[in-house]
Amino acid sequence: MITVLVTGGAGFIGSNFVRWAHDTHQDWHITTLDKLTYAGRLENLEAVMHSPRHTFVKGDIADAAVAAPLVQDADIVVHFAAETHVDRSIQSAADFLTTDVIGTFVLLEAARQAPRLRRFVQISTDEVYGSVPTGHSVETDELRPRNPYSASKAGADRLAYSYWATYNVPVVITRASNNYGPNQFPEKVIPLFITNAIDGVPLPLYGDGLNVRDWLHVDDHCRGIDVVIDHGVNGEVYNIGGGNEVKNVDLTHRILELMGRPQTLIRPVADRPGHDRRYALDTRKLQGLGWAPTVPFDAGLAATVRWYTDHESWWRPIKDQDAAFKAYYAAQYGNRAKA
Ligand code: NAD
Ligand code: TYD
Repeated sequence: MITVLVTGGAGFIGSNFVRWAHDTHQDWHITTLDKLTYAGRLENLEAVMHSPRHTFVKGDIADAAVAAPLVQDADIVVHFAAETHVDRSIQSAADFLTTDVIGTFVLLEAARQAPRLRRFVQISTDEVYGSVPTGHSVETDELRPRNPYSASKAGADRLAYSYWATYNVPVVITRASNNYGPNQFPEKVIPLFITNAIDGVPLPLYGDGLNVRDWLHVDDHCRGIDVVIDHGVNGEVYNIGGGNEVKNVDLTHRILELMGRPQTLIRPVADRPGHDRRYALDTRKLQGLGWAPTVPFDAGLAATVRWYTDHESWWRPIKDQDAAFKAYYAAQYGNRAKA
């Protein structure tokens, strides 16, 4: 058996990856290490929870007593665990530093003493490049992160690289664009707007709505990571992008159209401070390893709308009953509409 440690596997992308990898690689034993923060949900792992090829460990990646033995027992580490929401990082950045930077440091230190480790996949993000007004980011571009989330991720990205360059830890780094699909926490724009539309609640569109994101279906992301595990070169960075550049206002129109809801639900609100205008990735390097995105954006978005419509029992307790989420929503959006 190949021993695979997945950090953050109870979150959105991590849980999609754990479920996909569990079905795809019959010779993998996967251990999920997750702190179960507000974004980590055990129900995301229901499908593998009773499998003899999956083990769940509740713990903090920044706690070496828990994390180090798991890293040292692994053949492959796929490190997703992070604080991930830009707006929350603007409200309060401390957890981003602790988890995204220090947590990654703890894992990398453990990786130096891991006898069988052959891959440490650092899951980074296209946001480390900062705003890209024109053209497409290539892996060698300068990093210009502009908010506490992307700055923390850039720190982790380069720290991981330094452990390859300095200690020969078998690090590969992936930088994916904005993901969408099932099980995404309803603070991110697509699930927030779908679930608000279901409830007939306004969709708070930041600024002029002309910011561009390059949407990647989470299944295509999982396959991209798998290709990097098999064929990536240590010390290298690989962009993973869907090639679907969409303005936020157009995304919002499409969601409402798909759902048969009126466009009058759109509520322009005050912009996000330091709002990156555009992200766009050049993915030729990963395509050179045999990967290409397969999910057309329209079909993927329609399937995502269906998933949230069919899985109210997943998101409604978060949006309607979770006091912490309600407090976050009030702080984030309460005064925004007036601005
Ligand atoms: P998420 O917020 O849905 O999930 C994060 C998971 O990490 C949760 O299960 C949470 O409980 C866990 N976690 C947080 N702090 C932890 C800690 N200290 N110890 C252990 N577990 C902890 O995030 P996501 O959207 O699935 O993103 C996963 C990774 O992919 C992150 O590294 C993120 O930066 C990166 N990424 C995300 C996107 C995107 O569009 N969502 C795009 C590119 C890269
Ligand atoms: P988000 O899903 O938070 O991802 P990221 O900031 O990591 O790209 O936001 C995606 C885009 O949607 C971004 O340009 C900000 C915008 N947005 C809104 O207009 N309204 C919202 O309520 C949210 C959460 C995001």
